[in-house]
Amino acid sequence: MEIIIADISHSIYAEEICTTIENAAKVRGTGIAKRKPEYVISKMQQGNAVIALESNKFAGFCYIESWSHGKFVANSGLIVHPDFRGIGLSKKIKKKIFEHSRAKFPEAKIFSITTGLAVMKLNSDLGYKPVTFSELTTDQTFWNGCKTCVNYDVLQRTNQKMCLCTGMLYDPVTENKTQPQKKIKEKTFNRLKSIKQHLFLKKEKK
Ligand SMILES: CC(C)(COP(=O)(O)OP(=O)(O)OC[C@H]1O[C@@H](n2cnc3c(N)ncnc32)[C@H](O)[C@@H]1OP(=O)(O)O)[C@@H](O)C(=O)NCCC(=O)NCCS
Repeated sequence: MEIIIADISHSIYAEEICTTIENAAKVRGTGIAKRKPEYVISKMQQGNAVIALESNKFAGFCYIESWSHGKFVANSGLIVHPDFRGIGLSKKIKKKIFEHSRAKFPEAKIFSITTGLAVMKLNSDLGYKPVTFSELTTDQTFWNGCKTCVNYDVLQRTNQKMCLCTGMLYDPVTENKTQPQKKIKEKTFNRLKSIKQHLFLKKEKK
């Protein structure tokens, strides 16, 4: 399985990607923002998408969207073709697009709104935390994407404060603050381990 940053040569898969997303939304009976092939192609052109291919057969896809002048990015449109589900492919695609987003937009907060348990699990593993919509982008273009969702009336009724989706956020500032603590803990653990080993060897010699 090839999991790569998509480029214009992958535009031949755009139609199939959109159909697969639409069919999946019908099966789930939940809302999903519809995508057009031209939009998917533009993401490939910008180097803002990841595609998974198995011997040139489309297997999975995801893309990056940037909001609030780059303050936020979202990893959207995650789709795994039914033939390739349940083998950990979405996990690999999400990891790849997450790492690509961090490298390309290091200052940006990465967010996601979803009703899917699988996506919630994947996001949690990457360090996203659940948040209220107040913590997400206020960029109206993003929320306009919800207009094609079957639950849009709920979002309207609550003045965009809440809906059936759960908001999840990866904040690089918070993460960087917790990282040094993690490093210190690791250092202390390794030191204690080496002391224990040293004492054990001493005892063995006796
Ligand atoms: C959701 C989807 C992307 C999962 O892809 P996948 O490659 O089959 O998932 P993986 O095999 O990588 O599994 C990732 C995790 O999600 C869990 N998972 C997968 N499908 C699930 C489901 N339908 N319900 C609950 N959990 C699920 C797996 O058990 C795994 O969890 P683990 O790490 O605890 O073992 C795929 O089913 C899909 O494309 N669905 C339709 C589109 C969709 O729902 N997109 C998300 C829009 S927000």
